[in-house]
Amino acid sequence: MLAMNYRGPFRVRAEHKPDPVIEHPGDAIVRVTRSCICGSDLHLYHGLVPDTRVGTTFGHEFVGIVEDVGSQVTKLKVGDKVLVPFNVFCGSCFFCQKELYGNCHNTNPQATAVGGIYGYSHTAGGFDGGQAELVRVPMADVGPTVIPSDIHEDDAVLLTDALPTGYQAAEMGDISEGDTVVVFGAGPVGIFAAKSAWLFGAGRVIVVDQVDYRLDFVRRYAQCEVVNFREVDDMALHIKKMTDWLGADVCIDAVGCEAAGNAAQTFTGVTTMMQAGSATVLHWAINSVRKGGNVSIVGVYGPTFNAVPIGNALNKGLTLRMNQASVKRHLPRLIEHIRAGHIDPKQIITHRVPLEEVADAYHIFSSKLDNCIKTVLIPPNAGQVKAVEATASH
Ligand SMILES: NC(=O)c1ccc[n+]([C@@H]2O[C@H](COP(=O)([O-])OP(=O)(O)OC[C@H]3O[C@@H](n4cnc5c(N)ncnc54)[C@H](O)[C@@H]3O)[C@@H](O)[C@H]2O)c1
Ligand SMILES: [Zn+2]
Ligand SMILES: [Zn+2]
Repeated sequence: MLAMNYRGPFRVRAEHKPDPVIEHPGDAIVRVTRSCICGSDLHLYHGLVPDTRVGTTFGHEFVGIVEDVGSQVTKLKVGDKVLVPFNVFCGSCFFCQKELYGNCHNTNPQATAVGGIYGYSHTAGGFDGGQAELVRVPMADVGPTVIPSDIHEDDAVLLTDALPTGYQAAEMGDISEGDTVVVFGAGPVGIFAAKSAWLFGAGRVIVVDQVDYRLDFVRRYAQCEVVNFREVDDMALHIKKMTDWLGADVCIDAVGCEAAGNAAQTFTGVTTMMQAGSATVLHWAINSVRKGGNVSIVGVYGPTFNAVPIGNALNKGLTLRMNQASVKRHLPRLIEHIRAGHIDPKQIITHRVPLEEVADAYHIFSSKLDNCIKTVLIPPNAGQVKAVEATASH
Protein backbone atom coordinates (compact mmCIF):
# COMPACT_ATOMS: atom_id res chain seq x y z
CA MET A 1 0.00 0.00 0.00
CA LEU A 2 0.98 3.63 -0.33
CA ALA A 3 1.66 5.39 2.97
CA MET A 4 3.24 8.50 4.36
CA ASN A 5 6.72 7.55 5.53
CA TYR A 6 8.82 9.48 8.09
CA ARG A 7 12.48 9.74 7.08
CA GLY A 8 13.70 12.19 9.73
CA PRO A 9 12.98 15.80 10.73
CA PHE A 10 11.39 17.81 7.91
CA ARG A 11 11.55 14.79 5.59
CA VAL A 12 8.47 12.76 4.82
CA ARG A 13 7.48 11.03 1.62
CA ALA A 14 4.85 8.73 0.15
CA GLU A 15 6.19 5.20 -0.19
CA HIS A 16 4.95 1.69 -0.64
CA LYS A 17 5.02 -0.56 2.42
CA PRO A 18 3.41 -3.90 3.29
CA ASP A 19 -0.34 -3.88 3.86
CA PRO A 20 -1.26 -4.09 7.54
CA VAL A 21 -2.81 -7.37 8.64
CA ILE A 22 -5.06 -8.52 11.47
CA GLU A 23 -2.65 -9.18 14.35
CA HIS A 24 -5.23 -9.78 17.07
CA PRO A 25 -8.81 -11.09 16.82
CA GLY A 26 -10.06 -7.69 18.05
CA ASP A 27 -8.44 -5.78 15.16
CA ALA A 28 -9.98 -4.34 12.03
CA ILE A 29 -8.32 -3.14 8.85
CA VAL A 30 -9.74 0.14 7.55
CA ARG A 31 -9.33 1.38 3.98
CA VAL A 32 -8.78 5.09 4.42
CA THR A 33 -10.85 7.46 2.32
CA ARG A 34 -9.65 10.70 3.94
CA SER A 35 -7.05 11.62 6.52
CA CYS A 36 -5.90 14.97 7.88
CA ILE A 37 -2.64 16.54 8.92
CA CYS A 38 -2.86 17.92 12.46
CA GLY A 39 -0.80 20.53 14.32
CA SER A 40 0.33 17.60 16.47
CA ASP A 41 1.87 15.99 13.36
CA LEU A 42 4.01 19.09 12.99
CA HIS A 43 5.70 18.38 16.35
CA LEU A 44 6.65 14.96 14.92
CA TYR A 45 7.62 16.44 11.55
CA HIS A 46 9.87 18.99 13.26
CA GLY A 47 11.65 16.21 15.16
CA LEU A 48 10.45 17.32 18.60
CA VAL A 49 8.79 14.10 19.76
CA PRO A 50 11.13 11.46 21.24
CA ASP A 51 11.31 7.98 19.69
CA THR A 52 9.76 8.95 16.38
CA ARG A 53 11.13 6.11 14.31
CA VAL A 54 12.16 6.35 10.68
CA GLY A 55 9.74 4.38 8.53
CA THR A 56 6.65 5.01 10.62
CA THR A 57 3.42 6.39 9.21
CA PHE A 58 1.75 9.36 10.90
CA GLY A 59 -1.92 10.20 10.87
CA HIS A 60 -4.37 10.08 13.77
CA GLU A 61 -7.30 11.74 11.99
CA PHE A 62 -8.87 9.40 9.46
CA VAL A 63 -12.10 7.93 8.19
CA GLY A 64 -12.57 4.96 5.91
CA ILE A 65 -14.31 1.72 5.09
CA VAL A 66 -13.87 -1.47 7.07
CA GLU A 67 -11.97 -3.90 4.86
CA ASP A 68 -11.46 -6.80 7.23
CA VAL A 69 -12.30 -7.70 10.84
CA GLY A 70 -10.81 -10.11 13.35
CA SER A 71 -12.83 -13.03 14.68
CA GLN A 72 -13.72 -11.28 17.97
CA VAL A 73 -15.10 -8.09 16.38
CA THR A 74 -18.87 -7.95 16.76
CA LYS A 75 -19.83 -4.29 16.29
CA LEU A 76 -18.25 -3.62 12.91
CA LYS A 77 -18.67 -5.41 9.63
CA VAL A 78 -16.86 -5.26 6.32
CA GLY A 79 -18.12 -2.29 4.33
CA ASP A 80 -19.03 -0.10 7.31
CA LYS A 81 -17.99 3.54 6.95
CA VAL A 82 -16.25 4.55 10.12
CA LEU A 83 -14.60 7.51 11.79
CA VAL A 84 -11.79 6.50 14.12
CA PRO A 85 -10.98 8.67 17.17
CA PHE A 86 -7.30 9.53 17.46
CA ASN A 87 -7.08 7.77 20.85
CA VAL A 88 -6.38 4.05 20.83
CA PHE A 89 -8.24 2.88 23.93
CA CYS A 90 -9.54 -0.27 25.52
CA GLY A 91 -12.83 1.01 26.92
CA SER A 92 -12.60 -1.03 30.10
CA CYS A 93 -9.58 -0.01 32.21
CA PHE A 94 -9.85 2.22 35.30
CA PHE A 95 -9.31 5.35 33.19
CA CYS A 96 -11.54 4.40 30.27
CA GLN A 97 -14.32 3.69 32.76
CA LYS A 98 -13.99 7.33 33.79
CA GLU A 99 -14.24 8.27 30.09
CA LEU A 100 -10.59 9.38 30.15
CA TYR A 101 -10.00 7.63 26.84
CA GLY A 102 -6.89 9.69 26.15
CA ASN A 103 -5.32 8.18 29.27
CA CYS A 104 -6.11 4.52 28.64
CA HIS A 105 -3.87 2.29 30.71
CA ASN A 106 -3.77 -0.63 28.29
CA THR A 107 -2.76 0.78 24.93
CA ASN A 108 0.61 2.41 25.55
CA PRO A 109 3.25 0.36 27.32
CA GLN A 110 5.79 3.20 27.08
CA ALA A 111 4.10 5.77 29.27
CA THR A 112 2.03 6.17 32.36
CA ALA A 113 0.50 9.44 31.18
CA VAL A 114 -0.93 9.40 27.68
CA GLY A 115 -2.65 6.37 26.20
CA GLY A 116 -2.18 5.10 22.65
CA ILE A 117 -2.43 7.47 19.70
CA TYR A 118 -2.36 6.43 16.03
CA GLY A 119 0.81 7.45 14.22
CA TYR A 120 2.29 9.32 17.13
CA SER A 121 5.72 7.77 17.81
CA HIS A 122 6.60 4.94 20.16
CA THR A 123 6.00 7.27 23.12
CA ALA A 124 2.30 6.91 22.28
CA GLY A 125 2.24 3.19 21.64
CA GLY A 126 4.03 2.91 18.28
CA PHE A 127 0.86 2.41 16.21
CA ASP A 128 1.10 3.17 12.50
CA GLY A 129 -1.31 5.93 11.49
CA GLY A 130 -3.90 6.66 8.86
CA GLN A 131 -2.03 8.80 6.32
CA ALA A 132 -2.06 5.67 4.22
CA GLU A 133 -4.32 3.53 2.09
CA LEU A 134 -4.89 1.03 4.90
CA VAL A 135 -4.55 1.11 8.66
CA ARG A 136 -4.77 -1.48 11.40
CA VAL A 137 -7.31 -0.48 14.04
CA PRO A 138 -6.85 -2.36 17.32
CA MET A 139 -9.78 -2.85 19.71
CA ALA A 140 -12.07 -2.23 16.80
CA ASP A 141 -15.26 -2.71 18.80
CA VAL A 142 -14.31 0.19 21.07
CA GLY A 143 -12.93 3.19 19.16
CA PRO A 144 -14.48 3.40 15.69
CA THR A 145 -17.94 4.87 15.22
CA VAL A 146 -20.06 4.13 12.17
CA ILE A 147 -20.59 7.46 10.39
CA PRO A 148 -24.30 8.34 10.41
CA SER A 149 -25.62 8.60 6.85
CA ASP A 150 -26.50 12.30 7.23
CA ILE A 151 -22.99 13.29 8.37
CA HIS A 152 -20.64 14.42 5.60
CA GLU A 153 -17.32 12.58 5.40
CA ASP A 154 -15.44 15.90 5.67
CA ASP A 155 -17.24 16.62 8.94
CA ALA A 156 -16.60 13.05 10.09
CA VAL A 157 -12.84 13.34 9.64
CA LEU A 158 -12.83 16.52 11.73
CA LEU A 159 -14.73 14.63 14.44
CA THR A 160 -11.73 12.33 14.93
CA ASP A 161 -9.71 15.06 16.66
CA ALA A 162 -9.76 18.79 15.81
CA LEU A 163 -13.42 19.50 16.66
CA PRO A 164 -13.67 17.38 19.85
CA THR A 165 -10.33 18.79 21.03
CA GLY A 166 -11.46 22.39 20.54
CA TYR A 167 -14.77 21.53 22.18
CA GLN A 168 -13.08 19.87 25.16
CA ALA A 169 -10.80 22.91 25.49
CA ALA A 170 -13.90 25.06 25.94
CA GLU A 171 -15.51 22.49 28.25
CA MET A 172 -12.43 22.35 30.49
CA GLY A 173 -12.53 26.16 30.69
CA ASP A 174 -15.74 25.72 32.70
CA ILE A 175 -17.21 28.78 30.98
CA SER A 176 -20.02 30.59 32.81
CA GLU A 177 -22.66 32.55 30.95
CA GLY A 178 -21.27 35.87 29.73
CA ASP A 179 -17.61 34.99 30.34
CA THR A 180 -14.79 36.51 28.34
CA VAL A 181 -12.76 33.71 26.77
CA VAL A 182 -9.33 34.21 25.20
CA VAL A 183 -8.13 31.47 22.86
CA PHE A 184 -4.44 31.40 22.02
CA GLY A 185 -3.92 29.83 18.59
CA ALA A 186 -6.02 30.17 15.43
CA GLY A 187 -5.17 26.76 14.01
CA PRO A 188 -7.96 24.19 13.60
CA VAL A 189 -8.06 23.44 17.34
CA GLY A 190 -8.16 27.09 18.37
CA ILE A 191 -10.81 27.85 15.73
CA PHE A 192 -13.04 25.08 17.09
CA ALA A 193 -12.34 26.13 20.69
CA ALA A 194 -13.50 29.66 19.84
CA LYS A 195 -16.63 28.37 18.12
CA SER A 196 -17.34 26.01 21.03
CA ALA A 197 -16.86 28.75 23.63
CA TRP A 198 -20.11 30.32 22.38
CA LEU A 199 -21.89 26.96 22.73
CA PHE A 200 -20.89 26.93 26.40
CA GLY A 201 -22.31 30.43 26.95
CA ALA A 202 -19.36 32.80 26.49
CA GLY A 203 -20.27 36.47 26.22
CA ARG A 204 -17.08 37.49 24.44
CA VAL A 205 -14.44 35.51 22.55
CA ILE A 206 -10.99 36.83 21.62
CA VAL A 207 -8.54 34.79 19.51
CA VAL A 208 -4.79 35.48 19.46
CA ASP A 209 -2.32 34.38 16.74
CA GLN A 210 0.31 35.93 14.49
CA VAL A 211 -0.96 34.63 11.15
CA ASP A 212 -3.32 37.19 9.63
CA TYR A 213 -5.16 34.88 7.22
CA ARG A 214 -6.03 32.56 10.11
CA LEU A 215 -7.19 35.47 12.24
CA ASP A 216 -9.33 36.73 9.33
CA PHE A 217 -10.85 33.27 8.97
CA VAL A 218 -11.64 32.80 12.66
CA ARG A 219 -13.09 36.31 12.95
CA ARG A 220 -15.65 35.39 10.31
CA TYR A 221 -16.12 31.73 11.24
CA ALA A 222 -16.44 32.15 15.00
CA GLN A 223 -17.66 35.77 15.10
CA CYS A 224 -14.92 36.69 17.54
CA GLU A 225 -12.47 39.51 18.13
CA VAL A 226 -8.88 38.89 17.13
CA VAL A 227 -5.43 40.05 18.24
CA ASN A 228 -2.21 39.67 16.26
CA PHE A 229 0.40 39.21 18.99
CA ARG A 230 3.10 40.68 16.74
CA GLU A 231 1.32 44.02 17.15
CA VAL A 232 1.26 43.81 20.97
CA ASP A 233 4.13 44.58 23.35
CA ASP A 234 2.85 42.89 26.47
CA MET A 235 0.15 40.24 26.00
CA ALA A 236 -1.14 40.16 29.59
CA LEU A 237 -1.36 43.94 29.73
CA HIS A 238 -3.16 44.00 26.38
CA ILE A 239 -5.77 41.47 27.50
CA LYS A 240 -6.25 43.39 30.74
CA LYS A 241 -6.83 46.60 28.77
CA MET A 242 -9.45 44.77 26.70
CA THR A 243 -11.22 43.44 29.82
CA ASP A 244 -11.71 46.43 32.09
CA TRP A 245 -8.32 45.69 33.73
CA LEU A 246 -9.54 42.47 35.33
CA GLY A 247 -8.25 39.90 32.86
CA ALA A 248 -10.15 37.23 30.95
CA ASP A 249 -12.39 34.79 32.79
CA VAL A 250 -11.01 31.86 30.81
CA CYS A 251 -7.82 31.42 28.78
CA ILE A 252 -7.32 28.49 26.41
CA ASP A 253 -3.93 27.27 25.15
CA ALA A 254 -4.47 25.83 21.66
CA VAL A 255 -0.85 26.28 20.61
CA GLY A 256 1.43 24.07 22.69
CA CYS A 257 5.14 23.40 22.58
CA GLU A 258 6.05 25.32 19.44
CA ALA A 259 4.60 28.64 20.56
CA ALA A 260 6.32 31.66 19.03
CA GLY A 261 6.50 35.15 20.51
CA ASN A 262 9.30 34.90 23.08
CA ALA A 263 12.87 34.35 21.88
CA ALA A 264 14.15 32.92 25.18
CA GLN A 265 11.29 30.42 25.38
CA THR A 266 11.77 29.39 21.75
CA PHE A 267 15.51 28.94 22.27
CA THR A 268 15.16 26.81 25.39
CA GLY A 269 11.99 25.00 24.36
CA VAL A 270 12.39 24.38 20.62
CA THR A 271 15.93 25.09 19.43
CA THR A 272 17.86 23.40 22.24
CA MET A 273 15.03 21.42 23.90
CA MET A 274 16.25 22.29 27.40
CA GLN A 275 12.59 22.34 28.38
CA ALA A 276 9.76 20.30 26.88
CA GLY A 277 8.58 23.03 24.52
CA SER A 278 8.27 26.80 24.53
CA ALA A 279 6.08 27.82 27.47
CA THR A 280 5.16 31.19 25.94
CA VAL A 281 1.43 30.58 25.78
CA LEU A 282 1.38 29.07 29.27
CA HIS A 283 2.85 32.36 30.55
CA TRP A 284 0.43 34.44 28.53
CA ALA A 285 -2.58 32.38 29.62
CA ILE A 286 -1.71 32.37 33.33
CA ASN A 287 -0.87 36.06 33.31
CA SER A 288 -3.83 37.21 31.17
CA VAL A 289 -6.57 35.40 33.07
CA ARG A 290 -8.26 37.16 35.98
CA LYS A 291 -7.81 36.14 39.61
CA GLY A 292 -9.87 33.03 40.26
CA GLY A 293 -10.09 32.36 36.52
CA ASN A 294 -9.64 29.16 34.53
CA VAL A 295 -6.86 28.09 32.22
CA SER A 296 -7.55 25.21 29.85
CA ILE A 297 -4.63 23.61 28.02
CA VAL A 298 -4.95 21.36 24.97
CA GLY A 299 -1.75 22.48 23.22
CA VAL A 300 0.71 19.61 23.45
CA TYR A 301 3.93 19.63 25.52
CA GLY A 302 6.64 17.03 26.01
CA PRO A 303 6.91 14.72 28.99
CA THR A 304 9.79 16.28 30.97
CA PHE A 305 9.22 19.81 32.34
CA ASN A 306 8.41 23.39 31.36
CA ALA A 307 9.29 26.70 33.01
CA VAL A 308 5.80 27.92 33.91
CA PRO A 309 4.83 30.71 36.35
CA ILE A 310 3.16 28.38 38.82
CA GLY A 311 3.53 30.96 41.62
CA ASN A 312 1.35 33.42 39.69
CA ALA A 313 -1.21 30.68 39.15
CA LEU A 314 -1.21 29.89 42.86
CA ASN A 315 -1.42 33.47 44.06
CA LYS A 316 -4.21 34.27 41.60
CA GLY A 317 -6.19 31.21 42.68
CA LEU A 318 -6.45 29.79 39.19
CA THR A 319 -7.95 26.51 38.10
CA LEU A 320 -5.77 24.76 35.54
CA ARG A 321 -7.22 21.94 33.48
CA MET A 322 -5.63 20.05 30.63
CA ASN A 323 -5.63 16.75 28.79
CA GLN A 324 -5.50 14.97 25.52
CA ALA A 325 -9.05 15.03 24.23
CA SER A 326 -11.31 12.13 25.01
CA VAL A 327 -12.78 12.09 21.54
CA LYS A 328 -15.45 9.41 21.80
CA ARG A 329 -17.08 11.04 24.84
CA HIS A 330 -17.94 14.13 22.77
CA LEU A 331 -19.21 12.51 19.58
CA PRO A 332 -22.94 12.21 20.36
CA ARG A 333 -23.16 15.86 21.43
CA LEU A 334 -21.07 17.15 18.53
CA ILE A 335 -23.04 15.18 15.95
CA GLU A 336 -26.17 16.86 17.31
CA HIS A 337 -24.53 20.30 17.04
CA ILE A 338 -23.61 19.57 13.40
CA ARG A 339 -27.13 18.36 12.60
CA ALA A 340 -28.63 21.44 14.24
CA GLY A 341 -26.39 23.68 12.15
CA HIS A 342 -24.63 25.15 15.19
CA ILE A 343 -21.29 24.26 13.71
CA ASP A 344 -20.13 23.42 10.19
CA PRO A 345 -16.69 21.84 10.70
CA LYS A 346 -15.80 21.20 7.04
CA GLN A 347 -15.53 24.93 6.34
CA ILE A 348 -12.04 24.92 7.83
CA ILE A 349 -10.72 22.54 5.14
CA THR A 350 -8.60 24.59 2.75
CA HIS A 351 -6.55 21.89 0.99
CA ARG A 352 -7.18 18.49 -0.57
CA VAL A 353 -3.98 16.78 -1.57
CA PRO A 354 -3.37 13.34 -3.10
CA LEU A 355 -1.48 11.12 -0.65
CA GLU A 356 1.29 10.85 -3.26
CA GLU A 357 2.05 14.54 -2.61
CA VAL A 358 2.23 14.20 1.17
CA ALA A 359 5.67 15.88 1.32
CA ASP A 360 4.27 19.07 -0.25
CA ALA A 361 1.23 18.88 1.99
CA TYR A 362 3.37 18.87 5.15
CA HIS A 363 5.52 21.71 3.86
CA ILE A 364 2.52 23.89 3.02
CA PHE A 365 0.75 23.26 6.34
CA SER A 366 3.92 23.63 8.41
CA SER A 367 5.03 26.86 6.76
CA LYS A 368 1.51 28.34 6.71
CA LEU A 369 1.65 28.81 2.92
CA ASP A 370 -1.24 29.32 0.54
CA ASN A 371 -3.65 30.33 3.36
CA CYS A 372 -3.59 26.76 4.65
CA ILE A 373 -5.73 25.91 7.68
CA LYS A 374 -6.58 22.22 7.36
CA THR A 375 -5.33 19.70 4.84
CA VAL A 376 -7.10 16.52 3.83
CA LEU A 377 -5.03 13.77 2.22
CA ILE A 378 -6.80 11.57 -0.31
CA PRO A 379 -5.33 8.08 -0.90
CA PRO A 380 -5.08 7.04 -4.55
CA ASN A 381 -7.86 4.46 -4.40
CA ALA A 382 -10.37 6.52 -2.38
CA GLY A 383 -12.20 7.50 -5.56
CA GLN A 384 -12.53 3.88 -6.60
CA VAL A 385 -13.97 2.98 -3.22
CA LYS A 386 -16.59 5.67 -3.67
CA ALA A 387 -17.33 4.43 -7.20
CA VAL A 388 -17.84 0.88 -5.97
CA GLU A 389 -20.11 2.14 -3.22
CA ALA A 390 -22.13 4.24 -5.63
CA THR A 391 -22.57 1.26 -7.94
CA ALA A 392 -23.62 -0.90 -5.01
CA SER A 393 -26.21 1.55 -3.78
CA HIS A 394 -27.96 2.08 -7.17
N1 LIG B 1 -4.92 17.81 23.57
C1 LIG B 1 -5.28 17.20 22.47
O1 LIG B 1 -6.01 16.23 22.49
C2 LIG B 1 -4.84 17.75 21.14
C3 LIG B 1 -5.43 17.31 19.97
C4 LIG B 1 -5.08 17.93 18.76
C5 LIG B 1 -4.11 18.90 18.74
N2 LIG B 1 -3.51 19.27 19.91
C6 LIG B 1 -2.49 20.31 19.96
O2 LIG B 1 -3.15 21.56 19.83
C7 LIG B 1 -2.25 22.50 19.26
C8 LIG B 1 -2.88 23.17 18.07
O3 LIG B 1 -3.19 22.26 17.04
P1 LIG B 1 -3.59 22.79 15.59
O4 LIG B 1 -3.90 21.61 14.74
O5 LIG B 1 -4.60 23.87 15.69
O6 LIG B 1 -2.14 23.37 15.14
P2 LIG B 1 -1.62 24.52 14.17
O7 LIG B 1 -0.14 24.37 14.17
O8 LIG B 1 -2.35 24.54 12.88
O9 LIG B 1 -2.01 25.87 14.93
C9 LIG B 1 -1.26 26.47 15.94
C10 LIG B 1 -1.41 27.97 15.80
O10 LIG B 1 -0.77 28.61 16.92
C11 LIG B 1 -0.22 29.84 16.43
N3 LIG B 1 0.73 30.34 17.41
C12 LIG B 1 2.07 30.13 17.51
N4 LIG B 1 2.57 30.78 18.59
C13 LIG B 1 1.51 31.41 19.18
C14 LIG B 1 1.37 32.25 20.31
N5 LIG B 1 2.43 32.54 21.08
N6 LIG B 1 0.14 32.73 20.62
C15 LIG B 1 -0.94 32.45 19.84
N7 LIG B 1 -0.87 31.66 18.74
C16 LIG B 1 0.34 31.16 18.42
C17 LIG B 1 0.33 29.44 15.08
O11 LIG B 1 0.56 30.59 14.27
C18 LIG B 1 -0.77 28.54 14.54
O12 LIG B 1 -1.73 29.24 13.79
C19 LIG B 1 -0.97 21.70 18.91
O13 LIG B 1 -0.05 21.79 19.99
C20 LIG B 1 -1.48 20.28 18.86
O14 LIG B 1 -0.45 19.35 19.12
C21 LIG B 1 -3.86 18.72 21.09
ZN1 LIG C 1 -4.52 15.76 15.88
ZN1 LIG D 1 -8.45 1.77 28.73
